[in-house]
Amino acid sequence: MSKRTLVTSALPYANGPLHLGHLAGAYLPADFYVRYKRLKKEDIVFICGSDEHGVPITIAAEKEGVKPQDIVDRFHEMNKKTFEQFGIDFDYFGQTSSPVHHETSQDFFRTLNEKGVFKKKKETQLYDEKAEMFLPDRYVKGTCPHCSYSEAFGDQCEKCGTSLSPSDLIEPRSMVTGEKPVYKETEHWFLPLGDFQPDLEKWLNQTKNWKPNVMGQVKSWLNQGLGDRAVTRDLTWGVPVPVENADGKVLYVWFDAPIGYISATKEWAEQKGDPEAWEKYWRDKDSRLIHFIGKDNIVFHCIMFPAVLMSYDGYVLPENVPANEFLNLEGNKLSTSRGWAVWLHDYLNDFEPDLLRYVLGIGMPETRDADFSWKYFQDHVNGELADILGNFLNRTLSFTSQYFEGRVPPLKNPSDNDLAILKEIEMFKQDIEDRYEHFQFREAINKTMNLARLGNKYFTEMEPWHLRKNDMDRCGTVLHICCQISAALSVLFKPVIPDACQKLQKSLGIIEATWDRISSAMLEEGQAIEKGDILFHKIDNTAIEAQREKLEQQALTQEEQKPELPPIKNTVTFEDFSKLDLRVGEILSAEKMPKSDKLLKVTVDIGLEKRTIMAGIAAHVENPETLKGKKVTIVANLKPRKMMGIPSEGMILMAENPDGSLKFLSPNAENGSIVS
Ligand code: 2FM
Ligand code: ZN
Repeated sequence: MSKRTLVTSALPYANGPLHLGHLAGAYLPADFYVRYKRLKKEDIVFICGSDEHGVPITIAAEKEGVKPQDIVDRFHEMNKKTFEQFGIDFDYFGQTSSPVHHETSQDFFRTLNEKGVFKKKKETQLYDEKAEMFLPDRYVKGTCPHCSYSEAFGDQCEKCGTSLSPSDLIEPRSMVTGEKPVYKETEHWFLPLGDFQPDLEKWLNQTKNWKPNVMGQVKSWLNQGLGDRAVTRDLTWGVPVPVENADGKVLYVWFDAPIGYISATKEWAEQKGDPEAWEKYWRDKDSRLIHFIGKDNIVFHCIMFPAVLMSYDGYVLPENVPANEFLNLEGNKLSTSRGWAVWLHDYLNDFEPDLLRYVLGIGMPETRDADFSWKYFQDHVNGELADILGNFLNRTLSFTSQYFEGRVPPLKNPSDNDLAILKEIEMFKQDIEDRYEHFQFREAINKTMNLARLGNKYFTEMEPWHLRKNDMDRCGTVLHICCQISAALSVLFKPVIPDACQKLQKSLGIIEATWDRISSAMLEEGQAIEKGDILFHKIDNTAIEAQREKLEQQALTQEEQKPELPPIKNTVTFEDFSKLDLRVGEILSAEKMPKSDKLLKVTVDIGLEKRTIMAGIAAHVENPETLKGKKVTIVANLKPRKMMGIPSEGMILMAENPDGSLKFLSPNAENGSIVS
């Protein structure tokens, strides 16, 4: 067994509040694990903090017209408080804008640079001439070459999910000025991940107990072969690149953010008055490092950061990266921009944190994507926390208070069945422990609830309400066993529902409960207990309806905030409309007109003949060649008009999005067909 463990949870971007998906992905499982290990009295430190660099922050700042530092300070404080309220019990929650982090990440960069690890390469990147800045992938939007979605980002199309690079986009535009970006050369430092592939494979081959979904993704990256990854960016917000001739360059956020785990551990050590303590956790081979993350962060934690740690030398590598999959909400993908999210600070206005901890725990996306719905929440709170666990504890404590003067009755002449039940406590403990050790939290929680189920069934079958009338000793033995099960549950459930277990332990008079104390004899005969309050109340349909309505409303409000569409024009008669001859055509060729930014000369086959049309769409088409073969709708009887000396024999119809981008109307019909 290792001497100590360092657990990290992905540093959330400080660009907005936290929602359900955050909790279920990287924070709850880590907190369950850490709390379990603390109960086992193992040496474990739990580190997290805000990820305060990168494009998500600057985009949020630009949207609000404030400085990036204002955004990160605001959300850092807010998220830190939310985590505390949910009982996510970090030892330290840092910030990557802190001086210690800047120094630490710069030291990493400088050291790797001096060791000659990086490659310096020139490349062309999109540049906004008006804003005088290089555009990171997320700052470029355009039309997706796969699904024609006009709002695709430079790194991904959120409609069809394809990964893109900005040069793949059709009609790219800068999100800063809306201008068409140009290509400009720039120089960057690259981490040649290919050089690390043999060492990464060697390390990964000796790891144990990794989840198949995580290892599968890692293997697929390795099978594709690792390439060079830029670790610097042309931006003003971030950790400045600490070498000569690097003005205007900062560390790539995915280079500095994981180093944030180290910086935060340093700050934790400093704060507790033992500044050197961080080093044992990171640089002693007897330390275990566990990263809890969401699946979108796998490559960074299993390939890129380990390569950085390896090349610095002397650092421990992660022993496990138990990444979770994604959580959907009411059958749809969570989306903060579409308002489809349950904000954690909102949740706390209506319900206790323990309820969500339990429900997300029992249904977390451990091996595949999972869905959260308010009905699911209600079913599990009412059907399990209230009807099974709560009912069992309440029956046991009330009965003992009422008929045994609030003292644990003695175990007298236990039957074989009684002894078997007591033995089950020890078996459950072993089984649950095993699940925690293997990061199988759903099963750990399910099994813990099964012990409450067992207790409830035993109570019902033994009918102590009859026994108390004619066999008080037997009744006492039954209650003794139920009290022992309750005591075991108060520790076994503690990692998941800490507040409820705290109250339960107070009722049971348990002072110091460690995992190793869990047994079938945790309580002494005669030990005083209190009835305590009801731990879990049922949630009625009205409360659940209110939550659903809130969610729908939130999504609607977000929808309304979309750019306004122009009003409908004045009415025309059918006769007016029928004067237009609209036809289906197919583009045969398209070329840019010299000396014009706007015009394309397009030849269209409209079935009966070929037409030359001068279309004012050049600014929206990166490469006119790509238009060949495209179906279009044209106005075929528009009076010809000369443009740059060439008669334009029709008009190609386009739909204009509120943001000004254009889309062809592309009917899937024969050339020359009438559109009516
Ligand atoms: O995906 C994210 O939200 C990132 N901010 C996670 C960073 S994890 C770590 F490397 F810092
Ligand atoms: Zn797409």
